[in-house]
Amino acid sequence: MALVTLATCALNQWSLDFEGNLRRIKESIVKAKAAGATLRVGPELEIPGYGCLDHFLENEVYENSWDSLYSILTDASLHGIMIDVGLPLLHRNCRYNARAIILNGKILCLRPKLYLANDGNFREMRFFTPWNRPRHVEQYYLPPRIQRHQGCRQVPIGDVVLSTIDTCLAAETCEELFTPNSPHINMGLNGVEIFTNSSGSHHSLRKLDERIALIQEATRKNGGVYLYSNQLGCDGDRLYYDGCAMIFVNGDIVGQSSQFSLNEVEVVVATVDLEKVRAHRFAPSRGLQAVAVPEYQRIEVDYSLSQDNLDLDTPQSPTAPRPARYHLPEEEIALGPACWLWDYLRRSKAAGFFVPLSGGIDSCATATIVYSMCRLVISAIKEGNEQVIKDVKRIAAYTSEIPETPEELCNQIFYTCYMGMEKQSSKETRDRAKNLSDRIGSYHTDVNIDDVFNSTTNILTQATGFQPKFKVHGGSQTSNLALQNIQARSRMVIAYYFAQELCEVRKRPGGGSLLVLGSSNVDECLRGYLTKYDCSSADINPIGSISKVDLKRFIGWASTEFEMPILGEFLDATPTAELEPITADYVQSDEVDMQMSYQELSRFGTLRKVDHLGPYGMFLRLLEEWGGVGKLSPREIAHKVKLFFHFYQINRHKQTVATPAYHAESYSPDDHRFDLRPFLYPPGFESWSFKKIDERVEALEQRQKRQDAAKGLK
Ligand SMILES: *[C@@H]1O[C@H](CO)[C@@H](O)[C@H](O)[C@H]1NC(C)=O
Ligand SMILES: *[C@@H]1O[C@H](CO)[C@@H](O)[C@H](O)[C@H]1NC(C)=O
Ligand SMILES: *[C@@H]1O[C@H](CO)[C@@H](O)[C@H](O)[C@H]1NC(C)=O
Repeated sequence: MALVTLATCALNQWSLDFEGNLRRIKESIVKAKAAGATLRVGPELEIPGYGCLDHFLENEVYENSWDSLYSILTDASLHGIMIDVGLPLLHRNCRYNARAIILNGKILCLRPKLYLANDGNFREMRFFTPWNRPRHVEQYYLPPRIQRHQGCRQVPIGDVVLSTIDTCLAAETCEELFTPNSPHINMGLNGVEIFTNSSGSHHSLRKLDERIALIQEATRKNGGVYLYSNQLGCDGDRLYYDGCAMIFVNGDIVGQSSQFSLNEVEVVVATVDLEKVRAHRFAPSRGLQAVAVPEYQRIEVDYSLSQDNLDLDTPQSPTAPRPARYHLPEEEIALGPACWLWDYLRRSKAAGFFVPLSGGIDSCATATIVYSMCRLVISAIKEGNEQVIKDVKRIAAYTSEIPETPEELCNQIFYTCYMGMEKQSSKETRDRAKNLSDRIGSYHTDVNIDDVFNSTTNILTQATGFQPKFKVHGGSQTSNLALQNIQARSRMVIAYYFAQELCEVRKRPGGGSLLVLGSSNVDECLRGYLTKYDCSSADINPIGSISKVDLKRFIGWASTEFEMPILGEFLDATPTAELEPITADYVQSDEVDMQMSYQELSRFGTLRKVDHLGPYGMFLRLLEEWGGVGKLSPREIAHKVKLFFHFYQINRHKQTVATPAYHAESYSPDDHRFDLRPFLYPPGFESWSFKKIDERVEALEQRQKRQDAAKGLK
């Protein structure tokens, strides 16, 4: 046997928090060492944090990163273990996303990323140059103080592999794994036995299995040990990096850290037998390929990863394989946004959250996610998580005692408010909001906003003499909308006012303001079914990229898992904005108003964004999916597609001011980072694509008539 003990980690880094990031990196190294590991791998760009974005264009970030690396090199407590650490590098005036491999205070080599992630949320090409030259190696000139420390002026930089006394290892960085021709293939054929993969991968609903499959695939055929490391948590933006540091041997998982957690540092350690890798690579056909691959330059390292462990308390046998751990999508919604909110809250130094509760599903989901956050915090406290205890004491202004239950914590940091109108709001929605707040313990207020509504509408009447009316009272379409919008926008103003004042009202020590949370879902945003600058405008939105269908599933799940029968009431209610007066024969309903169902919206969204289809392409695709005998006719499908694009296009401007939302869904129309498109479109119904749809519908109907006629003849 050739046993080696290896460590990878998930770190809760924060962009530009050089001090905190360094502390967490050091802690992970110390923990890895304590567990007997001889190699420690960390996440992509862990020193400055992955999500620095355009700050990567500032030289200061590179200098600060060297300061941090210098601190790691000169810290003797971190010697005696090989360390693979991520940082950005300037080399010959180009910027690289790189790894430094270090041992006993000396840099062995630098490894720049070959291929950069540049789609969806990623824009690495905007900051970095891809190395793009497999196996090319040159010399890197160290900064002066590092030269003095290192005792030489240069170290190798490039696509190298490291030869230790007992094995051979190499680094891959995130996107490279996703590329069809991943470096690990040739490296493996070239004798590399241990691969490290340092990643900055964010959570996306239902996507973990894809990632695991990719990594498993990387070593199942080729053999090898794969150490996957990732960032964990919110590092200052919409993304939640979902940890899950893992160790694989020949495709089997032998270690996995949590996907959602309030821990700042999670280290995964496994003992693996390199003989298993060698045995896996027995096939002569592999040998034939191996002799044909180009040679990698090797950095000779006078160090052995397999230590004589007899005097250590580390396992003397390989870690057993175990199944991958996945969460249900409902659980992902309960946990991911909750962890993101916690990082945001503690790092923003706000006093808590404020949510306007409407009695509908969406704000209910936001509130339930905050409650889920409180549950996570309480269980972290019970596990003795020092950082969480410290943060809770500060945020919730506890002195010595700390909360015992999620409800107690909720009561200190979570504020809900029902903002009704005498004629529009039903008793049911008002009661549902109240009952929900009772269940989770939030500090609840219940107000009517008729005063604001009346005085605002009066201003127009006084100025012009015009008296706008709702449609049910005989008013025009325009007035009907304008009057709804006034209510909706007033709620936003009141929400911010309450969020600033409520801590003072309650005489909370330290006062402070609350963060206002938004509650619009991804489908509404896509369709533009919301009032610009109403309660959809908030500080952050935990559910802004989650579909209505998923939110309902989440609420159903939480009603049993969190023992909240009240949630059932929300599920049974018809979704309504309650912005028009209720009369004996009229209650506003979302799906009727929108002229499409939430199910359909999800499909349109996916075809538009994920499958990159325009109106005509989407029509053709849906003909296949929704058309056919006894299903929708081409004309009906055409109508739906045109209606969707019509609303999408006239409302795109609303997406430009969408509240920053937790990224969860691949069809999110988030205009800021993820879905870049114009916001003033040519009128849809006159567009080229719509004409093509019409022509196609005509042709299909003509053909159908001919076929019917032919049948009639027989
Ligand atoms: C590293 O892991 C990521 C998954 O986060 C994967 O996409 C990427 O391809 C991996 N890199 C390599 C070089 O295998
Ligand atoms: C709210 O709670 C009260 C008291 O438990 C109950 O009578 C009422 O039916 C609940 N209302 C709704 C809408 O859930
Ligand atoms: C608002 O105006 C309506 C109609 O003018 C009136 O019936 C209602 O009492 C007013 N509400 C308040 C709170 O002033």
